[in-house]
Order: sequence, then structure tokens, then C-alpha cells
Amino acid sequence: MVKIGRATVTMSEFPAITRQQLALRNGQDKPEVWIAYKGQVFDVSGSRLWRDGKHYEHWAGQDLTDELADAPHTEEVFKRLKQIGRLV
Ligand code: HEM
Repeated sequence: MVKIGRATVTMSEFPAITRQQLALRNGQDKPEVWIAYKGQVFDVSGSRLWRDGKHYEHWAGQDLTDELADAPHTEEVFKRLKQIGRLV
């Protein structure tokens, strides 16, 4: 915990991202492309595999936890990505 002015913040916490904020980062409405997995939000803007928000039959801007079962890969792919927030 760190005190900044009157606020006490936990520095280890990623910023809270709402479903509405996530939905706008679907690769169509804003330049950023974000996806959520198990409560974590990742930035895939730099990934050519997520260009325009589309990854095979899957769309960015949403929680894709349940959709991983359709993928030929495991959740190991998330280890390469940068977490930017937590889905609230
Ligand atoms: C038909 C379904 C899907 C196919 C064919 C597919 C295919 C691929 C392939 C070929 C790669 C690159 C090779 C690799 O890392 O193994 C990849 C990477 C990745 N996939 Fe999928 N995938 C699918 C669904 C999903 C879903 C549902 C998610 C999210 C839950 C997902 C998340 C990712 C991520 C985060 C990467 C890493 C991107 C990067 O490193 O730039 N994929 N996928």
C-alpha cells in the first residue's frame, strides 16, 4: 500500500477496466485492441494475429475465457502478452 495524498493505493494492482471500455477496444472503434482472459486484460494491438480485432473466428473487445476451448493452443500464449488491466 502506498499513500498518495489522501488516497491509499495498492501498487501491484492493475487498473480496473470495465466491459464497456473493453468493448470499445475491439479493433474497429479505437486503435487499441484488447482482450480479456480470466479477469486479466491484455493489449494485443501490436499482434498481427489480432489485426482489426479479429483472431480466426474470435473477436477482441470481450472476455474470451470460455472461447479458449475452441483454440488449437493453450493459455500459454498469454505469457507472451502484456497485461494492462483487470476486468471489473
Ligand atoms: C479457431 C480458434 C483459434 C485458432 C485457430 C488460433 C490460432 C492461433 C495461432 C496459430 C497462434 C500463433 C501460434 C501460437 O502461438 O500457438 C495463436 C496465438 C494466440 N492466440 Fe489463438 N487461436 C484461436 C483462438 C483463440 C482464442 C479463443 C483466444 C483467446 C482466448 C486466442 C488467443 C491467442 C493469443 C493471445 C495468441 C498470442 C498472440 C501473439 O503472440 O501475438 N486464440 N492463435
